[in-house]
Amino acid sequence: MRIVILPSADDVAEYGAAVFIRQLTNKPQSVLGLATGSTPLALYQLLVSACRRQHVSFARARTFNLDEYLGLAGDHPRSYRYFMQQHLFNAIDILPQNTAVPDGTANDPVTACLQYEQQIADAGGIDLQLLGLGRNGHIGFNEPASSLGSRTRIKALTQATITDNARFFQAGEYQPHLALTMGIGTILDAHKVLLLATGTHKARAAKAMIEGPLSAACPASALQLHPQTTVVLDEAAATELTDVEFYRHIERENQALVKRLSSQ
Ligand code: GLP
Repeated sequence: MRIVILPSADDVAEYGAAVFIRQLTNKPQSVLGLATGSTPLALYQLLVSACRRQHVSFARARTFNLDEYLGLAGDHPRSYRYFMQQHLFNAIDILPQNTAVPDGTANDPVTACLQYEQQIADAGGIDLQLLGLGRNGHIGFNEPASSLGSRTRIKALTQATITDNARFFQAGEYQPHLALTMGIGTILDAHKVLLLATGTHKARAAKAMIEGPLSAACPASALQLHPQTTVVLDEAAATELTDVEFYRHIERENQALVKRLSSQ
């Protein structure tokens, strides 16, 4: 795992946007794995403005979102499809048919999950997967005790996640307790993973993910098995880490190496 600790949440978003822009510059037909939640919002805004300034294009890209609420249609304002349309897809040059979000209203959601896996495989696999981090260590909607080898499937949400995400729903509004989510095995198949976490409320999960044992109790700890994962934290999310000085040292070495190589 590459651990990058930056001063603020804005810096985290800028770092993330730069990774996406680099990915699309090097491979315009990239297959991107995308996430919802509050964390990626600033990154998406930066990608929208980079696309408007023609610094990046999604015209040849394909995207697969991590998850969707079971029972919410794509035009439901709380659905993740709707979120993606509002915050990214409607504002960039991506072709609508190249954006995939699990179908929350599929007649047969079990088959829809298998088909989602097949679509990802048919697209050649995910080049770059963006992740947020649940306060309980979940990634996508893979809650604690999820199989570390799981594939796209239906998952029941924990009360902690339902409570955390209640802020997106209005009082009295129906909030699903089930979701369709890529599995941990699906996420681990991505060529590169970029996980962003900001704020003190993520500090415990960040510690368990980076320094804790590999355990289904913290689904994000499965990323310890992934050969190309970058975790980008703001100072607040890094407060519980024990080896923080070591991570900063490694990053300084990385930067120096990049500088040396680019000046040769
Ligand atoms: C949700 C999503 C996750 C997201 C997590 C953290 O449960 N399914 O993909 O990473 O919440 O969200 P936030 O970024 O809002 O803290």
